[in-house]
Amino acid sequence: MRIISILEAYSVFLALALLIQVNYVKGSNYSVSYDSRSMIINGQRKLLISASIHYPRSVPAMWPGLIQLAKEGGANVIESYVFWNGHELSPNNYYFEKRYDLVKFVKTVQQAGMYMILRIGPFVAAEWNFGGVPVWLHYVPGTVFRTDNEPWKYYMQKFTTYIVNLMKQEKLFASQGGPIILAQIENEYGYYEASYGDGGKRYAQWSAKMALSQDIGVPWIMCQQWDTPDHVINTCNGFYCDDFTPISAKSPKMWTEDWPGWFQTFGSTNPHRPVEDVAYAVARFFQKGGSVHNYYMYHGGTNFGRTAGGPFITTSYDYEAPIDEYGLARFPKWGHLKELHGAIMLCEKALLNGKKTNMTLGPMQEADVYTDSYGDCAAFLANMDNKTDSVVKFRNMTYHLPAWSVSILPDCKNVIYNSAKVGSQASVVDMVPEELQSSVLSPNRDLKPLQWEVFMETPGIWGEPDFNITGFVDHINTTKDTTDYLWVTTSFYLDSNDILLENNSRPVLAVKSKGHALHAFVNQQLQGSPSGNGTIFPFKAEIPISLKPGKNEIALLSMTVGLQTAGPQYEWIGAGLTSVEIKGLKNRTVDLTKFTWIYKIGLLGEHLNLYKGDGNEHWILVTEPPKRQPLTWYKALVDPPSGDEPIGLDMIHMRKGLAWLNGEEIGRYWPRKSSKHDACVDHCDYRGKFMPNKCSTGCGEPTQRWYHIPRSWFKPSGNVLVIFEEKGGDPTQIRFSKRKASGVCSLVSEDHPSVSVASWTNVNEPSAQKPAATLSCPASTRISSIKFASFGTPLGACGSFSKGDCHDPNTLSVVEKTCLNRRECSIKLTEENFNVGSCSSTVRRLAVEAVCG
Ligand code: GAL
Repeated sequence: MRIISILEAYSVFLALALLIQVNYVKGSNYSVSYDSRSMIINGQRKLLISASIHYPRSVPAMWPGLIQLAKEGGANVIESYVFWNGHELSPNNYYFEKRYDLVKFVKTVQQAGMYMILRIGPFVAAEWNFGGVPVWLHYVPGTVFRTDNEPWKYYMQKFTTYIVNLMKQEKLFASQGGPIILAQIENEYGYYEASYGDGGKRYAQWSAKMALSQDIGVPWIMCQQWDTPDHVINTCNGFYCDDFTPISAKSPKMWTEDWPGWFQTFGSTNPHRPVEDVAYAVARFFQKGGSVHNYYMYHGGTNFGRTAGGPFITTSYDYEAPIDEYGLARFPKWGHLKELHGAIMLCEKALLNGKKTNMTLGPMQEADVYTDSYGDCAAFLANMDNKTDSVVKFRNMTYHLPAWSVSILPDCKNVIYNSAKVGSQASVVDMVPEELQSSVLSPNRDLKPLQWEVFMETPGIWGEPDFNITGFVDHINTTKDTTDYLWVTTSFYLDSNDILLENNSRPVLAVKSKGHALHAFVNQQLQGSPSGNGTIFPFKAEIPISLKPGKNEIALLSMTVGLQTAGPQYEWIGAGLTSVEIKGLKNRTVDLTKFTWIYKIGLLGEHLNLYKGDGNEHWILVTEPPKRQPLTWYKALVDPPSGDEPIGLDMIHMRKGLAWLNGEEIGRYWPRKSSKHDACVDHCDYRGKFMPNKCSTGCGEPTQRWYHIPRSWFKPSGNVLVIFEEKGGDPTQIRFSKRKASGVCSLVSEDHPSVSVASWTNVNEPSAQKPAATLSCPASTRISSIKFASFGTPLGACGSFSKGDCHDPNTLSVVEKTCLNRRECSIKLTEENFNVGSCSSTVRRLAVEAVCG
């Protein structure tokens, strides 16, 4: 078998990137159509590799960099949903500023020379609050979401038309010379259609027709929809879509959501999808005739403010995507997929125009070969066995196929890529802590130590009550999601006999709630904080409490933690208290459920706009901020952290609440831990079908410790950091943390195939045949030292490499000579470079860890 080297991958890929650039000239219109093979753009069939980047999950200052990194990673399309509830704040009251500047985002995509898929929805799911639908619409009489009724259809059509008109005005559709080549209506409605009866069916058809009537000049898609009418393309979402066939024989095979990782809820573990499996799924999709593929997400980003859906979706929407939450390429995922995209693009002509032949190579092994009349030939060899490697014969040559892998042969002969052989570098990423620096100057213009100002909420009703009622009302119907918080309070009397309990036993407050979380105060003291979790939101709890003879005041702070995002009739799922009893008194239970309860929506601090840093007269300057004090607002004026690395706010010493910088909403923080008893793995076997709980880490650890603050939110000094802490934390321990790729690693074995478009042109020359370890430090840094280098049989992974039985003692000097003081370097696994006589019979590897500085 002939394997070509991976060495010049990047330079080659750059050349390739130019080739796959979109071929529209900005401003002049071009046609977009499709046939059963692919999208046809300006008369040419195209392979489309798309990257989801949701514009409000980052900030405008990050957009050009994110889009560029997606392009460098081999994508030629950017995809985003449109987030209705971020845009239509109340009926007819539209917002398109800052990170909701959709036009600016689409134009940034255009400037990068990429195409755009706009998934208008406007229902989107997306782990986004209320699935993207404005909460006010739930309260427009007669509205039922996502089925056949006038108010829903009226508002949905109105918003869709608004967005379409906005895009048209700005000439952003391909038919006008813009980047948008596809638009989506609805989202995965097929799953729920039946639950809405006949109305569901009518609504699905209406949605498609309404979309078509918008006359946008490019095709519409509907994902996971099995009854799309003519002219609307149905597409697939899932971890794998190679088996998918569109309903219409005239439509191409499209994969709108390939999940390269997964989202998290507060209190869950950290799911990982191995890149070998992502690459396998993508390669299988193209092997089986797919031609439009989108990573959901390519950059997940951040659920700023209260945009996270739920309940309990974390503020981070990192998604273990190829670009991490902070905007850095995630290695090796980004790199391995970049090489995959390069390999697939080399097959574009044959894949899109060739005749396909399927061949069985073994019980679980197959080849798909695409040949066209110009002599182009591309082959994909797959081993679907999830345990055993295989050696197969194809066109008189022998190929080794690792279990659960696909090899790509752009000339039907040379393996340029195998999905299970990761040659891309890995990286060591740290969160480097930095103390908060005060921005306050003393009279002699020295910086003063950090000064905290505080504002303490009193548990219970502030100001005038909103209303009194016997029993409980639904939390969401009451707040209408204008805030997470709702005070629900009452009081009752006891005489001393009631609380003369034996054996020191204590009375308990027994609460039942539909969700999502609660802080229970009795006589102003916090007694307990029960909550539901990401799978079961209703909760009940029995909280031991202290009571006194006479009047006892109960103040319950009921909370939502993000509204439901999807599901049949999801907008009717409520939240809030359903029962409260005092149990364990001497001779009786007091059922408070039937008492009169006094309600107050939101917190006083929210009412005073304290999060903007406003309300100077309310803040109190303290020498030492109170610690472990519930319901406390903290404010400090801080300088930006040094350097230019992305910033996370380390909230490990805080308990639960909200944070802002300069009035910008960082989001909910809650370093809630997952259970030690959850299923976590030390090593993830990429082989076999992936499920979100297959390869989790972080059991017993906080789901989210750091909270992204975009650099562009900082001013040169005097930044107002505001924290609202619900349970009581230690603000003196809050730190900024700089996200730094401090080191890069490469681990490449002698039998690694090489994706190198540069060497691809002279693929048959022997010099192109050796694999290489390639290292690349982040911009403006260089390789300052080599921490580890071993050619032979090194063990371990990036960050923990160790020497194996076999080791060439010259490795370090060879690597240092090639790499020190360079930003990038590449070391070929040749005999000139390395010599390991004793283990020449085994397949040897080169492992390197370099420090970037
Ligand atoms: C899909 C949905 C997306 C997102 C995804 C999971 O079902 O269409 O919006 O929620 O699941 O991240």
